[in-house]
This record gives sequence, structure tokens and C-alpha cells, in this order.
Amino acid sequence: MKKLLLVILMAVPVAVTAQSATSGNAEKGKQLFMKQNCYYCHGTTGQGGRDGARIAQTALNVQGLIRYVRKPAGAMPAFTEKILSDQELTDIYAYLKSLPAAKAPKDVPLLLDQVK
Ligand code: HEC
Repeated sequence: MKKLLLVILMAVPVAVTAQSATSGNAEKGKQLFMKQNCYYCHGTTGQGGRDGARIAQTALNVQGLIRYVRKPAGAMPAFTEKILSDQELTDIYAYLKSLPAAKAPKDVPLLLDQVK
């Protein structure tokens, strides 16, 4: 019985560590998004900008985002593990997922005249 308890106690920290690797901290992610200049191309809220794609509410999953950022397809510079760890990219992912999706044109008051 004692042995079983020991095994359970040893398993708990492992489970906790594994979990923190898959869930990101949106607040940290926001800071990294600014610090690493993602905002320069993607806009401060990932809304897209002059050079970068709209990435707020990205359709990628977290693994897809990490893979993309390490090896981008087009005009985007690559960010290596040294610059941004997988955990930091997971935080950025949480930040992007916390942002509002694009508004429909009819919900933007300034555009209302054009949609009517
Ligand atoms: C120099 C401009 C630039 C910077 C800086 C930049 N990106 Fe990009 N990013 C782009 C462009 C442009 C694309 C569109 C695809 C392409 O042409 O590479 C893109 C695409 C992406 C995509 C894929 C979008 C999709 O849904 O397919 C993700 C995710 C992304 N960027 C994340 C980031 C993150 C995170 C950072 C900061 C660590 C960053 N980008 C910094 C320009 C940039």
C-alpha cells in the first residue's frame, strides 16, 4: 500500500509539468508578440497589417503555429528555438486565440453606409 502511494506521489509532478507545456499564458504571449516584433507585420492585435497576414484567431493549432514560425513559407523571417522557445510560442498562441475575431462589415459603423 505504501509503495502504491509513493508511485502516485511521484506521478503527480510529471502530470503537472506536461500540462503546462500545452497551455499558454496569453499575457506573456502579448509581451512576446510586441518584444519579438511580430506586431510590426501582424498588427498589435494580430489584425494583419502592411506586410503580414491576419493571425488573430489563427486556424492553425499550436503545433502548426510553432512549425510555421520555425520555417515560414514566404516573406516572414524564421524565429529559431534560441529566439522563441516552444513554450513562448505557446504563450503567443494563447494570446492570438484570446483576441477578437474580425468583425463583419455590417458591425463596423463607419462602413455601414457602404453595406446598406
Ligand atoms: C517581417 C514581417 C513579419 C514578422 C516580423 C512576423 N511575421 Fe508572421 N507572417 C508574415 C507574412 C508576410 C505572413 C504571410 C505568409 C508569408 O508570406 O510568409 C506571415 C504569416 C504568419 C503565420 C501564418 C498565418 C496562417 O494562418 O497561415 C503565423 C502563425 C505567423 N506569421 C506568426 C508570426 C509570429 C508569432 C511572429 C513573431 C514571432 C511573426 N509572425 C512575425 C510576416 C511577418
